[in-house]
Amino acid sequence: MRAAWYERRGPARDALVVGEMPDVQPASGEVRIAVSVSVLSPGDVKKRSGWQGSPMPYPRVIPHSDGAGTIDALGDGVDPARLGQRVWCYGAQSYRPFGTAAEFVAVPSELAVPLPDAGGNSANRELAEQAACLGIAGITGYRAVFADGPVDGLIVLVHGAAGGVGSIATRMAARDGATVIAVVRRPAQRQRAAELGADYVFASDDPDLPAAIRAVAPDGVNRIAEVDLADHVDLDAEVIAIGGVISSYYSSADRPTLPYWKLGFADSTLRLLGSDDFPAEVKSHAAQQLTAALVEGRLRSAIVERVPLAEIARAHELVESGVDGRVIVTVSEDA
Ligand SMILES: NC(=O)c1ccc[n+]([C@@H]2O[C@H](COP(=O)([O-])OP(=O)(O)OC[C@H]3O[C@@H](n4cnc5c(N)ncnc54)[C@H](OP(=O)(O)O)[C@@H]3O)[C@@H](O)[C@H]2O)c1
Repeated sequence: MRAAWYERRGPARDALVVGEMPDVQPASGEVRIAVSVSVLSPGDVKKRSGWQGSPMPYPRVIPHSDGAGTIDALGDGVDPARLGQRVWCYGAQSYRPFGTAAEFVAVPSELAVPLPDAGGNSANRELAEQAACLGIAGITGYRAVFADGPVDGLIVLVHGAAGGVGSIATRMAARDGATVIAVVRRPAQRQRAAELGADYVFASDDPDLPAAIRAVAPDGVNRIAEVDLADHVDLDAEVIAIGGVISSYYSSADRPTLPYWKLGFADSTLRLLGSDDFPAEVKSHAAQQLTAALVEGRLRSAIVERVPLAEIARAHELVESGVDGRVIVTVSEDA
């Protein structure tokens, strides 16, 4: 099969190789997907570059955990009805060597989520591309909002609300009936956050941001989906409601300084997320909810670039450059 891989850490152009290797085969309980779309997240890029000095976990890694395509082979014990299903998948390169940047990927059957027929090739293709954006970003965004229960009637603050994770957190919180306060860094992201269902959109550099948030949430915000704990923890402590939860999935500092008593007197909870290690049932539940929201029609990731598999290094560089939207790798033109 045609695939991209790396056998050592390093810059994208040095480490990534595109070539031929033996087809992967599904093991017992697995399905094999003929991949049409492979989607990368910042985490895939960090794994390749050796972020935080992590060693190579396998002699060869095919990158990317997320993707979409059609099930074309089954391992022992898998329901024969799955053959030919169009699916999206998550976790393909999470504690596993071979991800979705290849013509074929094999994953445990439960990681391949069926997609409905959207009615025609181009609609199915669009759905597949969008679904492939749901894995790392979607499951993390979902958990950031819902790890502590439903949010109907609550106030949810989403930092980086137009980002990969933040946009999905925004949409899913609004869908569940929360009042959503979105904070974005670039002016162009304001409209996007509003389209996703945010009730209020503020600029992250607004010098009066705590007061602006308190004006619309006088008793504070109940949940915070946090894209940079180190950067925002003082603000979060200003606006968190009594009993509120800050769910953080990234911090620009490894040892952020916390306003301990402000957070403590709010009886608040700090939840630190690591998506590779969410319990399997949490990922599966999130995947079902995300698929439902996608099919309903308003959960849409901003895809800014489609890159052929042969140019995968460029896709990694785009993500590293901080491009404003999702980059997807086209493996085949199939729906
Ligand atoms: N812990 C986990 O399991 C987990 C899971 C998923 C992602 N992550 C990590 O979380 C980070 C974001 O992932 P992503 O996929 O959402 O990335 P993304 O698509 O690049 O989106 C990040 C968004 O947050 C904004 N942002 C970043 N830092 C900010 C700050 N200090 N203040 C205000 N806004 C800020 C960005 O604004 P600009 O557009 O202006 O840059 C962008 O809109 C990455 O480092 C990723 O590796 C961790």
